[in-house]
Amino acid sequence: MAQTRGRVITVCNTKGGVGKSTLAGNLVWAFATQRSRQRRVLLVDADPQASVTKWFDLAPAELPFDRTQLTTARVLQQQLPRLRPSYDVIIVDCLPMQSDVTAAAVTQADLGLVPVLPSPLDVLAYSELVPLLRQAQGVNAALQLRFVINQLAPNTVLAREVQDTLADADIAVLPTYVGLLPRTCRILR
Ligand SMILES: Nc1ncnc2c1ncn2[C@@H]1O[C@H](COP(=O)(O)OP(=O)(O)OP(=O)(O)O)[C@@H](O)[C@H]1O
Ligand SMILES: [Mg+2]
Repeated sequence: MAQTRGRVITVCNTKGGVGKSTLAGNLVWAFATQRSRQRRVLLVDADPQASVTKWFDLAPAELPFDRTQLTTARVLQQQLPRLRPSYDVIIVDCLPMQSDVTAAAVTQADLGLVPVLPSPLDVLAYSELVPLLRQAQGVNAALQLRFVINQLAPNTVLAREVQDTLADADIAVLPTYVGLLPRTCRILR
């Protein structure tokens, strides 16, 4: 049976520079190029800085997914429900602040992915974000939330401390983490 409702994954954190756009860009690429599945994939850039848009503007060839920029809460609220039936997966990259845009993007998501860096300052910052996420769950009971640890050096004291601290946050931590990507890594071959 044809899927009628795409899955929306919103990548968000009120903290800046934690890897939201990197994660969103890599996820969209992974979903769109997985050979075993033919998925219709859309990248929504909700950040007026447009980092992920500028990143994929550099692509030398046609991309295997669609892209759009929806940078106000009103436009997100209007457009995401309209876009859902046309896609299997929609990835939304959020801006780094507590705003009505982030709230709108999370409220309409099936899954909110929250990248966090393994540093005490970044981990402490989640306390600002959790109320916003809980508020979104109050409106959208189906919303699932997961932390994703980014740039984790496994088997270090810091890694263990970060995982322990996040375990107290009452939002599950994905068992899969993102390591330190090499600077020379090119995903757009
Ligand atoms: N796993 C990683 N390994 C190496 N570098 C990374 C990794 N994740 C992110 N970076 C780098 O960290 C910087 C910030 O990443 P990114 O722009 O994805 O964060 P962001 O949360 O989207 O930032 P902003 O809050 O400004 O939107 C970038 O230079 C990016 O290349
Ligand atoms: Mg970003």
